[in-house]
Order: sequence, then structure tokens, then C-alpha cells
Amino acid sequence: MNYQFDVEMNRKNTASFKWDHCNYIFGTDDLLPMAIADMDIPAPPEVLAAIKERCEHPVLGYTIRTEKFYNAVKSWMKKRFNWEVKDEWILSTAGIIPALSYAVLSFTQPEDKILIQPPVYRPFFDAIEANHRIIVENPLKEVHQGNKIHYEMDFEDLEEKLNGVKLMILCSPHNPVGRVWTIEELTRLGKLCKEKGVIILSDEIHSDLVFKPNTHNPMASIKEFQDISITCIAPSKTFNVAGLCASAIIIPNQKVRENFSTMMFNCGVFLGNTIGNIALETCYTKCENWLEQLLEYLQERKTEIETFFAENLPQLKIAQTEATFLTWIDFRNLNFKTHKELEDFLIYKAKLGFDTGAKFGAQGQHFMRLNFGCSKKMLREALIRLKTAVDQL
Ligand SMILES: Cc1ncc(COP(=O)(O)O)c(C=O)c1O
Repeated sequence: MNYQFDVEMNRKNTASFKWDHCNYIFGTDDLLPMAIADMDIPAPPEVLAAIKERCEHPVLGYTIRTEKFYNAVKSWMKKRFNWEVKDEWILSTAGIIPALSYAVLSFTQPEDKILIQPPVYRPFFDAIEANHRIIVENPLKEVHQGNKIHYEMDFEDLEEKLNGVKLMILCSPHNPVGRVWTIEELTRLGKLCKEKGVIILSDEIHSDLVFKPNTHNPMASIKEFQDISITCIAPSKTFNVAGLCASAIIIPNQKVRENFSTMMFNCGVFLGNTIGNIALETCYTKCENWLEQLLEYLQERKTEIETFFAENLPQLKIAQTEATFLTWIDFRNLNFKTHKELEDFLIYKAKLGFDTGAKFGAQGQHFMRLNFGCSKKMLREALIRLKTAVDQL
């Protein structure tokens, strides 16, 4: 079956965070929103059909996770990443954001140190700070290659910073810089964590959206790190079903798993979401072909962005996007005095709503994140708005 991804999608008045909350996010709704990591692309028809079918039954009461749920997670991990997962390793939370806090609460005490690698997804900071733990930053290193930035881990700094740390929250692949960590990088990182007694929460929510020739390796699929790893996966980014809040948390080590599941129970989390479970099961068992076609579509948009920046906006650099539908843009060469001036320029002059780089830590000052999971027309409009505004500076 051929799926349609290039669809002009009106999401206004659907309670969309991206489209119906612009005033809250940007202070105006007179702009084109290219923020928030969901796509303006319809979810797979197979998923919509499965949800409709379930709704044929009029009772939507408390639900359990059946064999189908566990088999779906296991078969997906085996097929996509050649990782054999066991039923008992699989827990489930209502999205990965809550899992970050459960891990923080399970494996650390107030004032304990937790390491992250900024610029990185904002809720990593929030889960640590809101629970009164201490953030230890191991910033990624920028390697400039023409108008591209390739991000790397700073292992010397990591080795030093891991001392006294209890938990590391790894973003793999990395949001916002788009890196797919190689097996060598993961192994080096894992060895350091193991040596220093650090548990790794590996947030792998973007792991299905990887562009060739890169390949994703789940941290826990590397045998020697299985016992120190918590792997978070979800169909939400991959199949654009984030609003259904379904995810799987895979924890091979029994003691680590029991700590985590006790914390979930203590927070009152043990039931699932009827529709979310159906979506997860359907995505992981019936939508691989949809995903392959989506990846081709996203690859084309990514190439379009790279060409556009090289030809029309040579003063701006972009990160080498190896995964995700997000482009991390470096505006430092425009020499705005403050990050706020850049934000105002994009919102009021370009009329574009990007995710502000400041959300991703101090390293995100003068950066912005563009979401290219949308129609060709919308992406082109955004690129032209950006060029026109920059040309007028
Ligand atoms: C790295 C990362 N983790 C987690 C999430 C959100 O996860 P969920 O919607 O499952 O809570 C996102 C969404 O952008 C993300 O980029």
C-alpha cells in the first residue's frame, strides 16, 4: 500500500498543543508553528482502523495489558534492533516523560547528582530539578564541518563528571542534535557508567526514525550494559500517536526493575490506557511498511532543508540530522545581542514558531529547532519566510 504523507493538514481546533496553543507558547498566533515534536502527518490508517474497531464496543473500562502488548514490543525490538526482550522485562508508563521522574525517584535521593548531555530535551532538566536532585552537565562537543555541525560526546569530561553520579539520562538518538550514537560511543559510555556504578536511563523514543546509513543500537542490547540500563521506547514519535501516551519501559535487571515498578506503584501508576495499548500493539505489528515510507518522505524533507540552507542561508549552520524530524539550527552568525532578540526576530519578523534553543540548556542560546514532519508546502513556506527575514537584516 502507498501511504500519503504530503497532506495539508488543518489541525486547528483539535486541541493541538502545536496549533491551538501558539498564544501561550509564542505570545501570538500570527505565525507558522514549526515547534513541538509531533508531525502534521496522519497516523497510519491501520492504527485509526484498530481504534475505531475497539470503539465498536461501547464500554471503555479499566484495561489490562494482554499478551498482544508484550508480543508487539518484543517482536518490534527483535525485528528492528535484533534485541531479544523478555515479557517480564517490560513495564509501561503513560509516556516517557513520567518515566524520567519515576527513574529519578527510584534511583536517587534529594541532592543526588544526575548527569545529562546538553543541549538536550527540556524534561530531562525538569525531572531532575523538580525532584530536588542536582544536574551534572556533560555538554556535547561541536565539530564544525562546512555549514554543518556534528555533535560528539566529550568522554574526558564525562569520565570526570560521572564521579559521584547515581543516574545518567541518555538521549539516544539525541534530541535536538539528531545524533545516532554509534556502538563504539555507546560502549565507551557504558563502560564508564558501569565502572562508576551509574544507572543509565536510555530514552530511545526517536530510535525508529533513523536515516540510512545510521543504525540505532539499544543501550541494553549491549550485553555488558543490560543490567545497568533502563530503555524507554514508544510509538508516539514514530507513528505520530503522541496524544495516546503509550510507552514501554524495558528493564532486564530484576532488582532495578523492581525498584522502578515499586515507585510506579507508589505513584499510583499501574493501569494502562485502552486506546493507547491498541495503538501501540497495532503500530508495532502492522505498520512497519508505513514507517519505511515515512522515512523516505522525511529523508527527502531533510535533504531539501540541507540544500536550502547551503544555497540560500549560508550564514546559518545546521546540525547533521541522523535521526528524527527535527533540525537544530545555529543562528550565532546573525550576531543578535541576546537570545530573546533572535526569538523576537523569528516570531515577529519571520512569523515562524520554532522551538527556542534556550529550552535545551545554556548550549541552546542562539539556536532554534525546526520540526520538518509536515507537508512540502508548509516546509517550503517556512524556509522562504526564514530567508526573506534574514535577507532583510
Ligand atoms: C527525547 C524525548 N523523550 C520523550 C519525549 C516525550 O515523550 P512522551 O510523549 O512519551 O512523554 C520526547 C518528545 O519530544 C522526546 O524528544
